Amino acid sequence: MRSVIDIVDLTTEEIDGLIKTALDIIKNPEAYSEKCKGKILATLFFEPSTRTRLSFETAMLRLGGQVIGFSSASSSSASKGESVADTAKVISCYADIIAMRHPKEGAPYVASKNASIPVINAGDGGHCHPTQTLADLLTIYREHGRLNNLTVGFCGDLKYGRTVHSLINALARYTGIKIVLISPNELKVPTYVKEEVLDKFNMQYTETTSLEDSISELDVLYMTRVQQERFADINEYNRLKDSYILTPDKLVTAKEDMSILHPLPRVNEISVKIDDDKRACYFKQVDNGKLMRMALILKLLDDAKNGVEGIVSNDNNYVTDEVKCLNPSCITATEQELPHVFKVVDKENKIYRCIYCEKDGII
Ligand code: CP
Repeated sequence: MRSVIDIVDLTTEEIDGLIKTALDIIKNPEAYSEKCKGKILATLFFEPSTRTRLSFETAMLRLGGQVIGFSSASSSSASKGESVADTAKVISCYADIIAMRHPKEGAPYVASKNASIPVINAGDGGHCHPTQTLADLLTIYREHGRLNNLTVGFCGDLKYGRTVHSLINALARYTGIKIVLISPNELKVPTYVKEEVLDKFNMQYTETTSLEDSISELDVLYMTRVQQERFADINEYNRLKDSYILTPDKLVTAKEDMSILHPLPRVNEISVKIDDDKRACYFKQVDNGKLMRMALILKLLDDAKNGVEGIVSNDNNYVTDEVKCLNPSCITATEQELPHVFKVVDKENKIYRCIYCEKDGII
């Protein structure tokens, strides 16, 4: 069964196809208003959300389908100890497609392995958020007319910002992309993003702590919130939360056509004084998210109907229960019966990467 857990589950041609569908929906919304008649989307949100849950629900309703679901773990049987795997099997009896958000990294992956219907990752811990990336790509495409030859700056919490990890991963497939990583030293992008994406695809990137020094070279500035909910130490969060605040004076040296993106919610990292600047695109991103989720629901239901499987990897270099994941945010930390499966990255140097959360494990 075809699911989308990570942006790498979609080929470049498929992403381009989703953008094409989204642009067609803008032109001909009526033509899509009954495409999902009789179909049900289940939104399983174990963590708070405004945009992602409501845009998935709006997307399905705009396609003529129906929606069931819950918006917090406390209103589901997870609060009684039900596993993600059992939840996925149960919901497969009720719905045609699942959108799942979960605080534990790898939970939607576990769901996809146990559901008999497509599962879409609507954000798992600090790991990834592929449908936000689809919204981001459509926004960049509509603002700049291309996804190639762009300098993209990511600013803020690059450690826990799952949308950052997914968008860097998506941009790796386009040519002429330069990445500027702007963060405090404590919130740099994780090692696996550097090794598995930036280095692996020979992406041109620089790291800096200064937004002011780099803003003039950017075509896209992707601001992010410091993710309070991922910090174990509230004092550390308070020390870092206001590292970057985009104010009109900081835009003086920015390009006239630079686009400012933010996955939202914002706290105070973009001043409201910027909202009327023509470069502010974060509310356009919200609308683009709904359109891309419509396109993705259509595609996955179509693939399920036609028996189309996802991208099949030939990589069989995995070990099971020989290595342990110590990431407290990994789904294996709370669901004890899950096997600890690791990709062997470098056997000699004992580098093993957890298939659920992509953090390195220990033997
Ligand atoms: N961008 C985003 O994921 O927003 P929500 O947390 O409100 O869904």
